[in-house]
Amino acid sequence: MKLRYKIASGMLVFLVVAVLSLAIVISHDSACGPAPSVSDGAELMKAIVYRCYGSPDVLSFEDIEKPSPTDNEVLVKVHAASVNPLDWHYMRGSPYLMRLMAGLGAPKQTGMGVDFAGTVEAVGENVKGFKPGDEVFGGRNGAFAEYVIIPEDRALALKPANMSFEQAASVPIAAISALQALRDKGKLESGQKVLINGASGGVGTFAVQIAKSFGAEVTGVCSTRNLEMVRSIGADHVIDYTRENFTESGKRYDVIIDNVGNHPLLDVRQALTADGILVMVGGAKGDWIAPLMGPLKALLLSPFVDQEFALFLGRLNKEDLLVLSDLMQAGKMTPVIDKRYPLNEVAAAIRYSEKGHARGKIVVAVE
Ligand SMILES: NC(=O)c1ccc[n+]([C@@H]2O[C@H](COP(=O)([O-])OP(=O)(O)OC[C@H]3O[C@@H](n4cnc5c(N)ncnc54)[C@H](OP(=O)(O)O)[C@@H]3O)[C@@H](O)[C@H]2O)c1
Repeated sequence: MKLRYKIASGMLVFLVVAVLSLAIVISHDSACGPAPSVSDGAELMKAIVYRCYGSPDVLSFEDIEKPSPTDNEVLVKVHAASVNPLDWHYMRGSPYLMRLMAGLGAPKQTGMGVDFAGTVEAVGENVKGFKPGDEVFGGRNGAFAEYVIIPEDRALALKPANMSFEQAASVPIAAISALQALRDKGKLESGQKVLINGASGGVGTFAVQIAKSFGAEVTGVCSTRNLEMVRSIGADHVIDYTRENFTESGKRYDVIIDNVGNHPLLDVRQALTADGILVMVGGAKGDWIAPLMGPLKALLLSPFVDQEFALFLGRLNKEDLLVLSDLMQAGKMTPVIDKRYPLNEVAAAIRYSEKGHARGKIVVAVE
């Protein structure tokens, strides 16, 4: 009964997704949203704005109205931000299914970027946890801007004193995803063997360090040029994916964190222990159904095997920022920064991210 239920629900999800994608494309028009209005006498700030889905060419560097905090909000002067694949998924509105949330014909929110670090400039009258002058980091839509506004109780925390603004801005999405994938989905324990596929990117470089801090034996999979870097951040073993396919090595892992999704599920199974857990963080790229095929196969295969295939969606929150802050202060996690771009060159930063070979994090310097 349970098995039939799982298969039926898998098929149902597939059907619903197919119908919704079709509906989105039918209703899709490539018109751009309206230019934002600016109130008379309002203070302005520089920001990256987009009003249509598309390539990095849709991004513009503009003067828009500077926000001011309501009672429970904090206004942060941004010193640094960082780029995540999520940014270009929003920019392109791809996979199409995400336009159900992000806006059908044009993006509902014109701000770009999520991860930031900066200094609190002003707080609403009910805010108790932050004050002007505090150095903070966090995640909020519209972070590629001189200022960002965020409710006090959301993903905002004091910046660890031993980290620069650029380092702190590298953390939110990638490190929270790594933490939640290892701890909540992978249930990783000290002494266990974990393999991280895509160990040299944003999520991977944090996952290697967090897994080590849990006391795990860590294997990182990356390309030749990144082997030394992945070793230097704590991996016990490294596999060069240009020479070796980890699914064919005969070695087995208690937990696999897959940031790439480039191997068939049945092959990845061969590298898991009998009751091992695969956490699917990254997956196939595509506008349509391709990104959903991995999760769908996992859903359909799960009832027949003892291994667990965990779908993953990271969730930004204050509590986990504090966990990561502790790790940084204890010297157990240090962000790896690849390239830096100024705010007016976010389009170039995103072009670089879209190539899929970032070496750690890509940072946007806002000053
Ligand atoms: N589900 C969620 O909530 C969630 C959250 C965060 C991220 N993600 C997804 O997770 C993925 C990784 O994110 P990220 O921020 O780490 O991206 P990233 O910074 O762009 O890193 C991508 C990494 O993938 C590596 N890579 C490319 N091809 C590879 C291969 N064949 N085998 C092994 N590694 C390979 C690259 O290393 P080389 O240069 O060495 O090739 C690069 O370091 C993205 O797809 C992102 O959308 C999902």
